[in-house]
Amino acid sequence: MLSEVIATRYVTPLREGGSLPGIVEADDLGTYVMKFTGAGQGRKTLVAEVICGRLARRLGLRIPELVTIQLDPVIGLAEPDQEVQELLKASGGLNLGMDYLPGSIGFDPLAYEVDPKEAGKVVWFDALINNVDRSWRNPNMLVWHGDLWLIDHGATMIWHHNWPTAKAAAAKPYNASDHALAPFGPDLSAAAADLAPLVTEELLTEVAAEVPDAWLADEPGFDTTDAVRRAYVEALLPRVATIHERITLGEPSPRKRSLPPGWLLTDPWPHEKKSKDSGK
Ligand SMILES: Nc1ncnc2c1ncn2[C@@H]1O[C@H](COP(=O)(O)OP(=O)(O)OP(=O)(O)O)[C@@H](O)[C@H]1O
Ligand SMILES: [Mg+2]
Repeated sequence: MLSEVIATRYVTPLREGGSLPGIVEADDLGTYVMKFTGAGQGRKTLVAEVICGRLARRLGLRIPELVTIQLDPVIGLAEPDQEVQELLKASGGLNLGMDYLPGSIGFDPLAYEVDPKEAGKVVWFDALINNVDRSWRNPNMLVWHGDLWLIDHGATMIWHHNWPTAKAAAAKPYNASDHALAPFGPDLSAAAADLAPLVTEELLTEVAAEVPDAWLADEPGFDTTDAVRRAYVEALLPRVATIHERITLGEPSPRKRSLPPGWLLTDPWPHEKKSKDSGK
């Protein structure tokens, strides 16, 4: 089970995120990025965050710890922004929290090198969960203490938006030509050899069990929350063995190496240098 904390202070909204996540402090003295049940993207986004986030962790990929957060909307009363007020009001009860990585920066492929093995693992994992939100436009990865961290798994497993078509949708290939790590020569065979044997029915059942009942209840077409959990397992499991053969990486593009900013390349003290050179 995910640990549960209670939000004690709403700090600030994160406006880069489409769902307007917020930074909150909690009763365990932790600081979290909170994703709200009342956000327009709906509770399935949170289900995807839990299943994929916990799976990533079990596969040894770097992802901040997830928790559930109890929210009393009263903690946001001082927040002046109407949009934030409404989001908080609509999200009383259980929400999702991700450990906040202070001082992390957004991944920039021109400034940060990823080795083909690590790139392969991330692309393979994204193919498995059908992540459509790790493109170079919006990489949803952070660099923290020199390491790459994965965030934001809300836009994955699109089949859960239309369960009757899940089987057919889950069988589809994965187009990674836009993936932020495609230019790093991802080693997909090595990733499949390392990771696929770990993704067993048992592991998937365990991660699905971590989704709170409240986010699965009353799903049309299912009698119980466990039946919904089972549907996630059944959609992911058949992809494990062969998904690496069905990943399109597109044309290999020679990645441009980053250059230092212009002001670092020009000599800031040309006169001093000249006078030293001329022995004055
Ligand atoms: N754990 C974290 N630690 C530090 N900053 C974070 C963390 N999680 C998210 N952020 C910051 O908040 C931004 C929005 O987060 P995230 O991408 O998860 O939200 P979203 O609403 O799902 O976004 P999107 O618009 O990509 O759908 C990130 O781009 C990043 O700058
Ligand atoms: Mg994002």
